[in-house]
Amino acid sequence: MSRKIAILTSGGDAPGLNAVIRAVVRTANFYGLEVVGFKRGYRGLIDNDFISLSSNDVSGFLNKGGTFLLTSREPRFNEYQYRKIAYENLKKQNIEALFVVGGNGSFQGAFKFSKEFDIPVIGIPKTIDNDTYGTDYTIGFDTAINTAVEAIEKIKDTTMSHERIFVVEVMGRKSGFIALETGIAVGADCVLIPEYPHPLHKVVETIINAKKRGKNFFLIVLAEGVAKAQEFSKVLEKELNKYGDFGEVRYSVLGYIQRGGSPSAYDRVMASRFGVFAVKEYLNGNKNFMVSFEKGNILSKPLEVSFGKIKKPSLEEFEIANILNY
Ligand code: ADP
Ligand code: F6P
Repeated sequence: MSRKIAILTSGGDAPGLNAVIRAVVRTANFYGLEVVGFKRGYRGLIDNDFISLSSNDVSGFLNKGGTFLLTSREPRFNEYQYRKIAYENLKKQNIEALFVVGGNGSFQGAFKFSKEFDIPVIGIPKTIDNDTYGTDYTIGFDTAINTAVEAIEKIKDTTMSHERIFVVEVMGRKSGFIALETGIAVGADCVLIPEYPHPLHKVVETIINAKKRGKNFFLIVLAEGVAKAQEFSKVLEKELNKYGDFGEVRYSVLGYIQRGGSPSAYDRVMASRFGVFAVKEYLNGNKNFMVSFEKGNILSKPLEVSFGKIKKPSLEEFEIANILNY
C-alpha cells in the first residue's frame, strides 16, 4: 500500500492557492506518495468530503484564481469532538500527514490538532494581507497589490483630470501591508494603516502643504482596518474645507477584486517553491512545521510561531511612503 498525505485550503482565499495544491500533489507523486484533497477546509475534514488528486488532476490550475478545493471558515473545528472526528477520517484512509494551506487561524487550529493527535501537520502560509507572523511572505499578497495598483491607477487618472481628493480603501482588516505597498507603488499622498497611526490633522497638513507646493490632486490609500472610506472621506472633507475650498472628497472601496484573479508570476513561483519545499521537508523527517520565507530563503519553523503575535510592516517602509509624498 502506498503512502498517502492530505491537503486542504482554509480561511479566506488568495490567488495562488491552486498553484500550491498543484505543487504539493506533483511533488508528492514525484516521490511516490498519493494525495487526497479535502474540500472546504476543515469542514471537509470533519464531513469526510474528499477527492483523490493525481498529477493529471491538477493540470491547468497553475494560473487560476480561487481554490478548486474550495475553502471555508468552520467553527466546528474549534471543538475537540469535531477535531477527533477529523482525525478519525484521516486514519480511516491511512493518511499519514495533513498539509494545511492557511493563515494565522488555520495554523492555530492545525497546531492544536497536531498536539492532540498522532498526525504531522504542515502549514503553508497564504493570505493577501501578508500578516502571518513568522514569514516575510504569504501566497497571494503580490497578486493582490498588483490588482490594487492597477485599479488605483485608473482612479488616479480621473482624480488628476478633475483635480480631486480621492480616498481608496483597500483590504486589511487588521493589517496595513496591502495599503502600504500599494500606496508606495501608486505614489499616494497619504497611506493610512493600523500599525502606524497617522492622525487626521497630519493628513490635512500633508494635503495643505502639497497644495501650497502646487499639487492639485490628492490620493489617499486607506487600509480597511483604520476606517471605512465612506466615513473617513466625509470627516476629511469637513476638516479640510476649514482651510480653503478643497471641494468634495470622493472615495472608492476596492473590496473583493483584491482576493481574486489569476496569480502573478511571483505568486505562481512562490506557491510552487512553498509546495515543493513542504513535501520535501516532510519527507526529510520534519513534522509539525510551517513553511517560512525569511530574508530570501525558504525554511521551516514550528507552527506555533505563526499565531499570537502581530506582524508589522517595517517602519522604514512606512517612512518611505511619507518621504516620497513630498
Ligand atoms: P485564516 O487561516 O485565513 O487566518 P481563519 O482565522 O478564518 O482564517 O481560520 C480558518 C479556520 O481555522 C477557522 O474557521 C477554524 O476552522 C480554524 N481555526 C481558527 N482558529 C482556531 C483555533 N483557535 N482552534 C481551532 N481551529 C481554529
Ligand atoms: O483575506 C484577508 C481579508 O481579505 C481581509 O483583509 C478582510 O478583512 C477579510 O479577508 C474579509 O474576508 P471575508 O469577508 O471572507 O471574511
